[in-house]
Order: sequence, then C-alpha cells, then structure tokens
Amino acid sequence: MVFSQPSSPVLKARRQRRRLYSRVLCVLLGVISAIWFIRIVCFEQTAQSSGTRGSSLYDAGGHSSASQRDAHQSLPLPLSNVTSHAHDSGPLSYHSHQASLNSPALTAIVPITPRSLLDLEATLSTLLQSPSPLAEVILLTPRQHHSSTRHVVQSILSKDDSVDVEMSLRIWPPSVEEGHAVLRAARDAMTDWVLILDEDGITNLSGTSLDHLLLREIPRIATSIGVRGIEYYLDGVICVSSSGSSAAFFVPPMVIPTAFIPEASNLAAVLDTNVWSTLGQYLSTAGSNVSGGLGAGPHENPLQQDWCSRYLPKGSDGTPLPVYGPISRKAIHSDDAAMTTAETVRQLDGVVTGTFLFVARGQDLRYLLPLACGLISTGYSASVLVQDVPGGLHRAPCEVPVSSLPSPPGADIGGSFYPSLLASGVLKNVDVIVSTLASKALIKELSFAVLVHIPPEDLPYIDWMNAIGFEEWKHWHTPEIQLSVITNNRPDSLRRLLDSLTSARYFGDRLNLRINIEQTADSETLRMVDEYSWAHGDVILHHRVTHGGLLTAVVESWYPHGNDSYALILEDDVELSPLFYAYLKLSLLRYRYGKLEDRSAQLFGISLYQQKNLELRPEGRHLFNARSLFEDAGLPQPTSPYLSQIACSWGALYFPEHWREFHAYLIARLSETVWPLRQTVVPDVRSNRWTRSWKKYFIELVYLRGYVMLYPNYADYASLSTNHLEVGSHVKDVPTEVYLRKKKLFNLPLMALPPVDDTTSLPPTGLLELPDGQLPPWKDLPVLDLLGEIATQETITKRGGDRRAELTGCDEPALQAHDVQDLLCTQ
Ligand SMILES: *[C@@H]1O[C@H](CO)[C@@H](O)[C@H](O)[C@H]1NC(C)=O
Ligand SMILES: *[C@@H]1O[C@H](CO)[C@@H](O)[C@H](O)[C@H]1NC(C)=O
Ligand SMILES: *[C@@H]1O[C@H](CO)[C@@H](O)[C@H](O)[C@H]1NC(C)=O
Ligand SMILES: *[C@@H]1O[C@H](CO)[C@@H](O)[C@H](O)[C@H]1NC(C)=O
Repeated sequence: MVFSQPSSPVLKARRQRRRLYSRVLCVLLGVISAIWFIRIVCFEQTAQSSGTRGSSLYDAGGHSSASQRDAHQSLPLPLSNVTSHAHDSGPLSYHSHQASLNSPALTAIVPITPRSLLDLEATLSTLLQSPSPLAEVILLTPRQHHSSTRHVVQSILSKDDSVDVEMSLRIWPPSVEEGHAVLRAARDAMTDWVLILDEDGITNLSGTSLDHLLLREIPRIATSIGVRGIEYYLDGVICVSSSGSSAAFFVPPMVIPTAFIPEASNLAAVLDTNVWSTLGQYLSTAGSNVSGGLGAGPHENPLQQDWCSRYLPKGSDGTPLPVYGPISRKAIHSDDAAMTTAETVRQLDGVVTGTFLFVARGQDLRYLLPLACGLISTGYSASVLVQDVPGGLHRAPCEVPVSSLPSPPGADIGGSFYPSLLASGVLKNVDVIVSTLASKALIKELSFAVLVHIPPEDLPYIDWMNAIGFEEWKHWHTPEIQLSVITNNRPDSLRRLLDSLTSARYFGDRLNLRINIEQTADSETLRMVDEYSWAHGDVILHHRVTHGGLLTAVVESWYPHGNDSYALILEDDVELSPLFYAYLKLSLLRYRYGKLEDRSAQLFGISLYQQKNLELRPEGRHLFNARSLFEDAGLPQPTSPYLSQIACSWGALYFPEHWREFHAYLIARLSETVWPLRQTVVPDVRSNRWTRSWKKYFIELVYLRGYVMLYPNYADYASLSTNHLEVGSHVKDVPTEVYLRKKKLFNLPLMALPPVDDTTSLPPTGLLELPDGQLPPWKDLPVLDLLGEIATQETITKRGGDRRAELTGCDEPALQAHDVQDLLCTQ
C-alpha cells in the first residue's frame, strides 16, 4: 500500500493543528477582550466587516482565517468513520460561513494553467453561485500566472460583493506535477470535503453533474464522487462517464472527503506513478465498499472523451494502457455498482455455453489469462477479477474482461465485494470459478457454481487445464481418488515413492493416502510410515498381522465406495512424476465425465506408465514402442494415447465398477467354483505361467470382457510413473548382471516440471503434446490387444465373448455389465 490509511496519523496531525489553533484563539481572545474594554465602539464595526463579509486574497496559501472558522460548529459527513473523526474535533472544528446546516463544507482546488486561465472567470462564477457549501477556493498558481489570476479574482469580487467564499492563492512549484500539487493542496483543506478540478475546470459539465460535485446533492456514502472514471478492461481501460457506475478510479473533476486523501509525505512516494489510479486503489480499501469511487451525474457523451487520454494509467512498461470502448454500460445504482463482467461478455459474444470466472491476485494473471483465453477461443465466456494493483496486470493474449477486486491483500475477499456482486445477480450466471484466493464466504455463497481453488504455487503448471472441456470442469470435484501404497520391507524404495508423492502437484484437490503394510514389514518401514506427513488429505494405515503376499496386498488395498471412487495403486518400487496427478485428472475427466461419446464402460483404468516391453507374448519379452508401431501401421495420429488390454501394475488408476467385478471374479476363481485353478483362461499368453499374481487374474477378466486401459504415449517414453524393479516379490534370485539389464528395460524417464521464469507466461508441462493439443475422442484412440497388436474394440470384445462361450458352454452372451455370475454363466 502506497498511501497510509486516512485514520490515525491524519487525525493526529489535525488534532495537533487544532490544539495549536485553540491556543492561538485563547491568546487572541485575551488580547481582543482587553482591547474590547478600551475601545468598544470603534472596533466593533471593523471586526464585523472582516469577519463575515470580507473576501481576502493571500499569497502563500496559509489559512489565516482559521480562527474565524473555528468559531463555527462542525458538521458531520454523511456517513462512516469520517463522521466520527469530524466529531472528534470538538468545539474548535472548522466550518464555512454560509454553508447550509444540512450539508458539509467544501473547498475547491483549481489548478491554473494557460488553458484554465482562459475560462477561469466563468469557472469561478459558476463555482460561487449559491446555494453551495463552498467555503474556500484555493487557486493553485504557477508564479508566472500570479498576476493574471489575481486580476481575474479581483474582477470577480468587484462585480459581486456578496461573495463570501474565501479565496486563496497558493504557489504551484514548477517541479511538481499537477496531480500531486492538487492533492497536496487538497490535503491541507480545512473543510470535510474537497472539490478537485483539473485544467478543464467545469466546462462541458451538466447542471446535474455540478450539483453532485458541489454537494448540492448530499452524498450517500463517503467516497470520491466523480463524473469521469476509468475502469480496467482487457489489458487496457474503458473511460466511463455515467451516473451510478463505479470505476477503478475517478479523475478530476471529483469531490472527495478530505480525510480520504493520503498525507503529503505519502504522496511523494507515488510521484512517478499514476496519481489518480493510486488514489482510487487507496479509496477502495479505505472504508468504502464501492471500488475507487462512485459516478454521479448524467451519462456524458462518450465522444467528448478527450479527458480520457490525459489520465490513462501506465502499464508496467511505462506506456499508457490502451483504451477500449466506448462500451455502453447501462446506468446502474450503487446497490449493484460493480458492473457485471459476465454481462459484458454476454454482450460481446452471442452464444454462451459456459461462463468461467477467474478470481486471482495480480501476479497470478500471467498463468490464468492464457487459460481464460483458451476457454474463450473454444467458445466459452470467461472474465477475470483481480485482487490487487493493476500494475501487475499482464497483457492478455485475447479479449478477456479484467475487473479489479477492491480488497486489501490477505483479507478474506468475501467481506466487502462479493455481497454487492451477489446482490446484482451477476454470479448466478457463472458456472465455474477458478480462484487462487481461498474465501470461505465465497464458497458458501457460490454453492451453485463449481469452485476450483488452485494454490498459487501450482499455477505455473496448469497449461493442461486448457484441454478440459466444459462438462469436465463441471465434474471437477466428482471423482475421488485414493492413493493406495503397498509396502513391505523396502524402506529405501518406499522413501523414494513417498518423496515423489510429496513433490507432486495436486492443484488444490484432496486425496486420501492409504498405506498397506505387510506383516513382515521392517521397523524402518514402520517408522517412516509413522512419520510421513501428507498435506493433501487423510492418511489411513493398514497393517497385516498374518502374511498376505502381494496378491492379497494389492487386491485388498482398496475397495470402491460408489462409482466415483478411484484408486491409484502403487507398489513401493514405483516412483511418480510431479505431474502424475495432472495427467490422471485430465484423462479421468475426459473419459469418465466428458461428453457421452467419449465415455466407455470398457475402460477399466488409466496407466501412468508407458509400455516399453511386451511381456505376454508366448515366445518371450519384446521391446515395444507405441509411436513407431502406429507410424508403421499408418495410423493418422501416431502420438495419440492408446487403449491396451494389458493391465499395468506400475502406477495405474483403477475404476470402481471393474475393480468390484475383479473382486467377485477373483473370489470365484480362487475358490475354484467354476474352473480349477490351473485352467487356462486366456490362450497363449505368458501370464498363464505366473503364480499367485493378481495381474494374471485381472488379465483373464479383461480378456473375457474385452476391457481396455488407457496408456500415455509421449515422446521418448516420457512417463508419469516408473518402476525401479527392486528385489521383492517379482524379482528374486537373479544374477546381478541380469537384474541390472532388466532394470534398464523397465526404467522410464519421468516427466518433470517445466522450469518457471519471469518472462514466459505459462510454461508448457508437456502434457498437451497430444494430437491437436487434446486428448483424442474415444473413437479415435488406437486399441491394442494383450499381445500388443493393433486391434479394434469390436475384435477384442468378440474374441473375449467367443472364449467365454468356449469355456462356459453358454450360448447366450453376457449381458449384465460387471456381473460375474452372468459372465461365468453360473446363474
Ligand atoms: C469504521 O472503521 C472500523 C475499523 O476500520 C470498521 O470496523 C467500521 O466498520 C467502520 N465503520 C463504518 C461505518 O464504516
Ligand atoms: C467541450 O465540448 C466541446 C464539444 O462539444 C469540445 O470541443 C471541447 O473540447 C470540450 N471541452 C472540454 C474542456 O472538454
Ligand atoms: C455498501 O454501501 C451501501 C451504501 O452506503 C450500504 O447500504 C451497504 O450496506 C454497503 N454494503 C456493504 C457490504 O458494506
Ligand atoms: C455403480 O455401477 C454399477 C454398475 O454399473 C451399478 O450397478 C451400481 O448401481 C452403481 N452404484 C451406484 C452407487 O450408482
């Protein structure tokens, strides 16, 4: 904050000043009464004439008539804290001579330039017209215009000797910029309100505007009231001149409570920046609930906006922000003063399919604006509310309305701004709010919208959100993902996995972490699990007391609750990319919650691991490269993610219906109610040789059903998880050399976080290195069978159905989804 609050230091200075006045007054009174006794008659006349009728002209801007004004009673401001400040001043408060008892006193500050000098006589005559609470006019005059100014004033006074407004001349030092000079003079005003003019004076203002500016209309709230305002819009501004609207800030002519003007010492601090925008910013945090002030008077002709170019705030590169508009903004009254960004959008593009609102701090915009623009280019509407100084405003790569959010940083933004937005009904049209500011009030009030809260530290990694469709955004909070870790006695492996979980990005989502610990777990593993702190949800520990083995450990590590619960099953020799969750969320939203045609009941899970080897071919292991396979086969999109029947156990998300079905299948299979354990279900695959492997049975189910899993297909095997193939259940008693060779075959490079610097807006994570930067439609995903051969969904389903018929003797195809009795024909 550049300016101080108007409260204590200001008041203190005023009280000191008043104390001084009161002492001076006491001395004066003493002297006067002494003299009065001696020369009663003679001096009475003089005192009267100079006290109530005289208009004097001073050179140095002193307030030598203070004692006079002190004798009058203070009048409160219409509202608020400023009122009580004025009351504090007690009997020695200042006030003008003629002000009506119902209106506050006013000082006008008139800067003199060659241009304003031309109209000065007209300006002053208009200002001095009664009725008006105008008590004083301060003419801020460069030395070279002193005599001309004095001349004009004398001419006015000579024409009308009924003028009882005090006029003073104050030197405007050549080095001081107009805004600062004016505010400095305003700060010293002895009245509760000041009217600030610029070199245009009051030319071209309507009578109604003047009534507001001269406080003939008593303001309802203590804030700056002006007829010309500037509102931020896109990467620039709109010049606003209509009644009842708010603006980010107002420019002269404007009337403002004196106490709201920052102290002179603070003014100096903003000498090189945008005086009026800083003042607006200051006002919006200083007691008023209307951003930057309130517009008054009738709608001005937008073509008469040559004032606007003079007051354009400068962007961070020092050039004035571009001007948009004039956009017609309907006159609104202060109850819904915050003009609706959403409405502006609706006016701009006809068809609206979904409305997004981004709520952020200024420094977050470089990450959020590209996202907002992506949505807009897809046909949605998006607007941005930014909490702090527009100096942090980044150039938007597209037309996106940006409005400022008046609230002190760090405060809960629900307090002052949202009530007025809510009252105006604007937010009712918003479908999705993406916010970097946590606000309890906001969440409570906006329960009808989807509120996605992204922690600021995750913002540089949100480029993938560009590929989320509207339906998918609406389901942001629907899936519940549990992380299910399976561990035994490999503390070093476990530590690496937990570290990768800690450094991954979760974009504000909550995920519970379940750790399944084998009976044979060592003490270091137990200690590590005990000490691990998980910031994104609950930790559930499960410790076995009888040995279960890997099959039991994996299969029992999770059981779904409802059809939106998912588990990422993680054996402890897996390590994750920091972007694993982004990938999961993106693909889960698309293929489970996206458009109807992109969802399929055949999809049983999402693998984070890329396939680099095919293990199920009867002749042995084969190297595998999806991209070259697709290229050789002449597929149109060799970089597309693909579907495969192979279940992955090195970092994969499993879906509830299929996992439930797997439990039922396993129960039937292990209890040998249908077939003997040694029965071959899938012909000619190596997994038939695996014993006590959960995957062997999962593969059987997948084969019979024609299910598929989604696999990533990024360049150079860049993967969201990898396996370190450590000695454990899978890898036992192999010679070191063989083991190391094997390890190399399975270890994949993890997709890393992109570097973040100050220049790029939104660094690419690499997750969108997809055909057209999107996850492809379901029907375009290549399908591979268990042997890694290109197939189609129909072929694999038919293959499974045929095998089922062969094994069960059932002619009827299985019709009940996920019903194992139906599948095994045991009903
Ligand atoms: C006066 O200021 C105090 C503290 O800044 C605030 O709590 C109170 O609401 C204000 N009163 C009005 C009427 O604005
Ligand atoms: C007043 O309006 C006229 C056009 O109506 C314009 O030419 C002139 O520049 C305006 N004056 C000021 C000070 O804005
Ligand atoms: C904002 O100001 C108006 C007008 O003074 C007042 O009626 C309203 O209660 C205020 N709203 C808030 C949230 O302070
Ligand atoms: C979940 O899906 C299964 C299979 O489609 C269905 O039978 C079950 O009713 C669903 N459960 C819930 C809670 O919707």
